[in-house]
Amino acid sequence: MISDFRKSINHNWFFKPIEEETYKKIQIPHTNQEVPYNYFDEKMYQFISCYKRIIHPKDPSKRIFLQFDGVMTAFKLYVNGQFVEEYRGGYIPHFIEITTYLQYDQENEIYVEVDSTEREDIPPFGHVVDYLTFGGIYRDVFLYELKHCFIQNVQYHYQVKNFSKEKGTIVLKPKVQINNIGQEKEYSIKVNIDHQEFTQKQQIKEGTHWYDLHEILLGEVDLWGLDHPILYPVQTQLLCQQEILDQSTIKVGFRHAKVDPTGLYINGEKIKIRGLNRHQSYPYVGYAMPKRAQIRDADILKEELGLNLARTSHYPQSPYFLQRCDEIGLLVMEEIPGWQHVSSKKEWRQQALQDVEKMILRDFNHPSIITWGVRINESQDDEELYKATNAVARKIDPSRPTCGVRCIEKSQFLEDIYSMNDFIHDGGEVILRSQSKVTGLKKPVPYIVTEFCGHIFPTKKFDNEQRLVEHALRHGRVQSIAREQDDYMGAIGWCAFDYYTHYDFGSGDRICYHGVMDMFRIPKYAAHLYKSQKSPYKEPVLEPLTWWSRGERNKGQVFPIYVCTNCDAIDVILGGKKVGHFTREENIIEENLKGLEYPPIKLSLSNGDWGSKWTEAEFIGYIGNEKVIVKKFVANPVVTDLIVQVDDSILNGFELDVTRIVVKVVDQYDNVLPYSNGFLTLETQGDIDIIGPKQVTFIGGSIAFWIKTLGKGIAGKGQVNIKSSFGIEKQVVIQIQE
Ligand code: GAL
Repeated sequence: MISDFRKSINHNWFFKPIEEETYKKIQIPHTNQEVPYNYFDEKMYQFISCYKRIIHPKDPSKRIFLQFDGVMTAFKLYVNGQFVEEYRGGYIPHFIEITTYLQYDQENEIYVEVDSTEREDIPPFGHVVDYLTFGGIYRDVFLYELKHCFIQNVQYHYQVKNFSKEKGTIVLKPKVQINNIGQEKEYSIKVNIDHQEFTQKQQIKEGTHWYDLHEILLGEVDLWGLDHPILYPVQTQLLCQQEILDQSTIKVGFRHAKVDPTGLYINGEKIKIRGLNRHQSYPYVGYAMPKRAQIRDADILKEELGLNLARTSHYPQSPYFLQRCDEIGLLVMEEIPGWQHVSSKKEWRQQALQDVEKMILRDFNHPSIITWGVRINESQDDEELYKATNAVARKIDPSRPTCGVRCIEKSQFLEDIYSMNDFIHDGGEVILRSQSKVTGLKKPVPYIVTEFCGHIFPTKKFDNEQRLVEHALRHGRVQSIAREQDDYMGAIGWCAFDYYTHYDFGSGDRICYHGVMDMFRIPKYAAHLYKSQKSPYKEPVLEPLTWWSRGERNKGQVFPIYVCTNCDAIDVILGGKKVGHFTREENIIEENLKGLEYPPIKLSLSNGDWGSKWTEAEFIGYIGNEKVIVKKFVANPVVTDLIVQVDDSILNGFELDVTRIVVKVVDQYDNVLPYSNGFLTLETQGDIDIIGPKQVTFIGGSIAFWIKTLGKGIAGKGQVNIKSSFGIEKQVVIQIQE
């Protein structure tokens, strides 16, 4: 539902596991069970729990609806003790009318029984799954008090004519879904956009129906694009004479998107996709992270890592994440829940089909979404199911191509984009399979690589330097080949962040260490590879892939050092003496990296052998002749300081709000000390709390934690006192707004 008259009811909920006696007060998003960082039994959150809340509806003329944006995995809703409905599926929102169950001017109890077991009748379950799904009411809950007739959904279809990269003429063709329990009647529908107003009369029937509005010639507008993510708030009102029955405001972006065998074009410009897969899990609370954390993830992917696409592997993700992708110009490939397994059971298959429909109905208006993933990730061919999922997607949204992620060569091509997880690269010369080998088709088709690396080369942030380097190079090679060869629309690596998984996968500790960042979103070397592909005019990057020590690599070998950088050249100074000037052209690491916009630079030097004296190093990055960035390493690193980075210093007190605090233990030149394994003790003052344990150890020289507001609704201050086992203490002050 999309009415502007919705109210968040995330606060004042009470929760208990069904087996327990007493409820405790909680805020939503909520996880039914916080988990340890690792080595826990995933069965610990797979239980049934009870959530309840009181509401006080005042106006008996209104229709009352509840909307649950994400409840894992299924729930039964009761109002005042009466059963209303059961809903299955943890990733897709659901709204329920509860009008007839309510008593006015008194307390009404909403009771939600949440089943967080891995039910075989609901995708992705039925076999093994390489991710944990957690439990609880983990996304927002809204209350709608609406009139007899309201706008249930709107789709802003449009055509773009006469476009350039940034401007285009738009013919808007809105489709409005209206839910009416009154008699058939003529109403007005008014669309407001960019200071223009368009009103038309519409005969509204009883029941829930879609209405095609007349075309609206908007004229020339600024188009949405990756570097100019222009959004227009579009307001649609439903009016009975002058009375507003309902209204909905959605930010819409207009862009021309096309895929063909030569690639993806946005507003006529060819875009090579450089993306990563994102799982939505976080340490301790799993999926239950509110708006600000979702927004931050999109920012990390676009601004910090410089990507142009995120795949929401393997399910529809938070509306806040998608909204942010719209706002910052990050493309999205969204897909239905599932993992390798397709059940033969009717219920399961119907659910998968419904997932396609509901995903598109929820997310149709996001300009960032360029394709719908309508296959269960990496499943076998299933002509009946996938003909149906494609048909549903094309019917609701003829404007976007479908895709379906597979790992089997020559599998049936029913979609518009052939999407392949190609894990062929194992460090050797073979980087990607050719399109024709994978598809087995005679003609080229739109083709994208949707995963690579992952389990072929799991890499922890605290692994040996050489492994971290190879991890970065593998990402680099695949992105390079995908960028330079016409076979590929681009490549989406596995994956952005380390993620929680079942014991059938990962390192046995319930974590798959496949991210280019760890679960705290702290970079590994592979993240530097991505980051260094950004324009130097956005941010100069100079990351020598080394801890700079004599004995970290095999045989006391230090060089060659590979530097992820968008600079043109690097000066190297060892022990105070300039020993080399390295340009990119003359110092490419290997052919397979040449296709990158900024291939890493290879520094071939010697700094003596095992037994010789160890020195300081300084690396200076140049753009043209200008010195733009310097990175120094000490010879004798010792613990010198803690660097504390806070993502946001102002939080909302009204609702559950969070921010991340990263702490790094650093040496004399602010470089992380990767093998320092001290610990932190965390204390809070004021209306904030720590998510997870209050004592944490460094992992690979850094660690992060999230703090949360307590939802008291009052302005104030919170303080975090960080004490370290090194004797260094830090404080962080957070302002809390009402
Ligand atoms: C793929 C799968 C992903 C993840 C990855 C690990 O097969 O689609 O979900 O398991 O492997 O490399």
